[in-house]
Amino acid sequence: MKKVITYGTFDLFHEGHYKLLQRAKSLGDYLIVGVTTEHFDEARGKVNVIDPIMERIENVKRTGFADEIIVEDHDGQKIEDIQKYGVDIFVLGSDWMGTYDYLKAFCEVVYLERTPDISSTILRNKSFQIVRTGIVGTGRIAPRFVSEAKYVSGIHLVRAFNPEEKSARQFAKRCEIEYDTENYEKFLQKVDAVYIASPNETHYDYTKRALESGKHVLCEKPVAFTRKEAEELYALAKEKQLVLLEAVKTAYCPGFQQLLNVAHSGKIGEIKDVEATFTRLADPKSRERTDAEYGGSFLEFGSYTLLPIIKLLGQNYQALHFNSICNEEGLDLYTKLQLEYPNGMASAKMGVGVKSEGQLVIAGTKGYILAPSPWWLTRRFEVHYENPNQVETYEPNFQGDGLRYEISEFVSKINGINKKDYKLTAGEAITMAAITEEFMKRKHK
Ligand code: CTP
Repeated sequence: MKKVITYGTFDLFHEGHYKLLQRAKSLGDYLIVGVTTEHFDEARGKVNVIDPIMERIENVKRTGFADEIIVEDHDGQKIEDIQKYGVDIFVLGSDWMGTYDYLKAFCEVVYLERTPDISSTILRNKSFQIVRTGIVGTGRIAPRFVSEAKYVSGIHLVRAFNPEEKSARQFAKRCEIEYDTENYEKFLQKVDAVYIASPNETHYDYTKRALESGKHVLCEKPVAFTRKEAEELYALAKEKQLVLLEAVKTAYCPGFQQLLNVAHSGKIGEIKDVEATFTRLADPKSRERTDAEYGGSFLEFGSYTLLPIIKLLGQNYQALHFNSICNEEGLDLYTKLQLEYPNGMASAKMGVGVKSEGQLVIAGTKGYILAPSPWWLTRRFEVHYENPNQVETYEPNFQGDGLRYEISEFVSKINGINKKDYKLTAGEAITMAAITEEFMKRKHK
């Protein structure tokens, strides 16, 4: 019996998929089809897949060509499967020509001509409304957004806004887009959504005005400095049925999701302590080191360190204790925040002028999770137990610099997919703003 195997995402099942399976089956007697998991697709940078895995499997089944359907969830699985199932022929479409030649050491490799003019990407682009996006602020983060947005279907950067003419002009020229410098409302009229990457103190105002104009908002952290402001923004978004996401990129990264799931799974018992550290020495002349009001360690990195704490211990902390090392102007070069919870505790350490080990440690009653720097991208984490020889290592895939995951979430939400908030809920974002408010109050005392 000749066994054939092929793999795919099979999203929005189309004629190209049908024909490929038909021809693959005709090459042998028994066809095995590997369907990718969402997690695997997300991790290899294929974001925005629409159909859930069960629906994609169901569609493959319905063709009647597959004798067996398996799930593909990790790199290197193809060789494992070929050996496990005794496969004779590995088949893929011609878009993969050459990529899998290394499998020739194990079986025959056949690339079949792709069906022209159809792909899941084309269908996704058609089924998603095209989100004409404007970028507010054209500083350091803006170019990264542009390069990462290319990996997400359905988002198009069309305009930039920055009151500083020179910066706006240079950026717009580089991206071949239009720009505005004066009238924000007029700028808003020409877009469906905005990505706000302007200085921290302008986030609330730009976000509010965008929501009032009926535009979806992806806003860099912190979205607001007080609980009241954050509540107001999220209530406004809800009332207007608009998407408001705070761009804490870690929250949307697949590796971080996995880390949270492992932590919640009971493997390390009850979670009692979370310690998160993020330091990056900033140039002494930079805004982060000179703007005593809106720069400094906490406002720069607080959202990152608070994220795992709030995700794991919740929003109902009982007390906060801040300690900062400040420069003469009162800017915090280093801040340590201790949080007390009814059944646990946490600490967050942030630095722009003091360097420390940037790690995340989650301590439980049965063991602990250690995620080394850069844990905020979560490329690796380990589960440790009392027995020092027992260590489980996780190395989630991670593509680009992480922004594509939050952009993908934003576009999916605008298109009505992922209606429920799990990754960063309004409540969690509001709690972060409330803690920021406490920090600001103490700073001004
Ligand atoms: N395929 C094909 N003809 C097409 C589209 C896909 O033969 N027009 C093949 C691919 O080469 C692959 C299989 O179908 O062997 C599954 O492909 P998949 O990546 O799921 O579909 P695409 O439409 O290529 O998806 P995307 O646009 O997301 O890359």
